[in-house]
Amino acid sequence: MPKYIIRGGRPVTGRIQSLGAKNFATKAMVAALLADGTTRLINAPRIGDVEITCDMLEASGAKLDWSMPSTLAIDAANIRSAKVPVPDSGSNRIPILLLGVLLHRLGEAHVPVVSGCNIGARPVDFHLEAAKMFGAHITVSDTGYHAVRKGRLKACHYRLPYPSVGATESCLFLGVLAEGTSIIENVATEPEIIALITMLNAMGARVQLMPNRELIIQGVDRLYGTSFEVLGDRIEAASWAALAAATDGDITVEGIDPSTLINFFGPFNAVGGGVEIEGAKSIRFFRRQPLKSTVIETDVFPGFATDWQQPFAVMLTQASGASIIHETVYERRFDYLAALSALGARTQIETHCLGSLECRFRGHDFPHSAIILGPTPLRSAGLTLDVPDLRAGLAYVMAAALAEGETTITSIARIERGYGNLIERTRGLSLAIGAG
Ligand code: EPU
Repeated sequence: MPKYIIRGGRPVTGRIQSLGAKNFATKAMVAALLADGTTRLINAPRIGDVEITCDMLEASGAKLDWSMPSTLAIDAANIRSAKVPVPDSGSNRIPILLLGVLLHRLGEAHVPVVSGCNIGARPVDFHLEAAKMFGAHITVSDTGYHAVRKGRLKACHYRLPYPSVGATESCLFLGVLAEGTSIIENVATEPEIIALITMLNAMGARVQLMPNRELIIQGVDRLYGTSFEVLGDRIEAASWAALAAATDGDITVEGIDPSTLINFFGPFNAVGGGVEIEGAKSIRFFRRQPLKSTVIETDVFPGFATDWQQPFAVMLTQASGASIIHETVYERRFDYLAALSALGARTQIETHCLGSLECRFRGHDFPHSAIILGPTPLRSAGLTLDVPDLRAGLAYVMAAALAEGETTITSIARIERGYGNLIERTRGLSLAIGAG
């Protein structure tokens, strides 16, 4: 199995081009199926999750074309299969998003039971509830969810129990072609959602994001193909930022809109990181002063993203004092700390809420708070770290870059699903990473 071998212990410097964000690219691909023409996604990343989504789209009858540089063209004129195949990776959140889209296009949808990275239960109850509110009839079997509609889907008024990213996307897909005007309350407003709303409106939809997390969706009769640019990955950019500060290096990330990192910069500065915006889409990250501990609480946008906490934790191992991370989005997202501890970090996981945010996990005994004591030098005497999930995977790469000695990283397919081949992509950095 392919591995990364990393020799760490030196500052990481240089430049890196950010990839198109997988968490928008894959959703934009699903949105393309709503049009009966061709949609072009510019800056589409050729990564595992996009390839898996390509397979699902092709199985439905869409025609895909990568012949233009960095552009994926999706011709959805002849959608004919309502059965979504089980993704090869076994864990991918896209099938459930196809439910509403295929319902519109074909009157029925059969999607497999999905999971995601191993970071919590990750149910799909909000998606199913929303589809029912729009008039879908859903039956659940061992193989998945079968949805049918009688006539056109009908607009509804639905309040999401929690501002779930995926369920907000499902509501958008269900609402744009439904009959009438829908009101969806308590929606997610992550930059990738804003981009999706913008793209759907460019396809002819009538979606308005109101203050107070409310969407007003006036259903239309049809949507048209469009061209749209995939935004840069703000999670990856934050990881390179944390690596620069952690190793006392200096990394410039290209192709990233600084506004998508708006609430990363404050905590990053508070720890001792430095930021210089070099152009509309170019940001330099470095260490401005000795790193010191802080308190982080993850939250839905505009809060501190849950996907930023793993790279941030690696940086915090180098900060003096006791840092606290209160994870309020996923109930079990600290398994990766064991690997940091194996490299010499001092960490402790708590089931108590170590923070002031109202948290769904209070009183449930979930290991969702962490304490990190620093600074601790990291060392690896030939350790092997097995990647549990995408974001933790990049944190392992960072920890290995920080640690003196050689570290082997296995199950790298989990990293490459979202970040592509890091050996090639980090050529502009002084990171000593090779294939094993
Ligand atoms: N939730 C439910 N029921 C639902 C849907 C969600 O209880 O029907 C809960 C989840 O269990 C979780 C919380 O709501 O506790 C938030 O989940 P959300 O639906 O927002 O997450 P998602 O849409 O499945 C996306 C990203 C994640 C990212 C989260 C939060 C994709 C493919 N994934 O997941 O990214 O952490 O939003 O921002 O867009 C990753 O890229 O590695 C990743 C995990």
